[in-house]
Amino acid sequence: MQILILNGPNLNRLGRREPGIYGSQTMEESLNELRQKCPQVEITYYQSNSEGALIDRIQQAEDEGVAGIVLNAGAYTHTSVALLDAIRSVKTPVVEVHLSNIQAREDFRHTSLITAACKGIIAGFGMTSYRLAVEALLADQ
Ligand code: DQA
Repeated sequence: MQILILNGPNLNRLGRREPGIYGSQTMEESLNELRQKCPQVEITYYQSNSEGALIDRIQQAEDEGVAGIVLNAGAYTHTSVALLDAIRSVKTPVVEVHLSNIQAREDFRHTSLITAACKGIIAGFGMTSYRLAVEALLADQ
């Protein structure tokens, strides 16, 4: 079973980007831990700062038969109707994740344009949000 972890803008800088909010672990370190904790899943990872590249990857995931997508759309969460439409355009289940609790932050982060198209949302648990999302996808098979 293959799961795609898809990260949006600025998440390539995890580990040094606002560590007080996003932690000091790099995505590569977290992925290593996640793969160890979930050996039954083949986890592929893709990150882009570009909205169009994220949309292409969502569409490609369906074509490849990926079982589910764990999506941290970063700031596009709050702005992108195009991502909402992309998620709606595929049958692949998508779980929205955030490292931080977006409801506990600035007002503009309280609105997610993509939640309505996702299976669910997990936010506020740092890197654990990703593991919980993988487990949610597994439980939903
Ligand atoms: C984020 C929250 C977003 O508001 C922000 O723009 C990010 C990261 C999170 O993981 O907490 O880039 O998605």
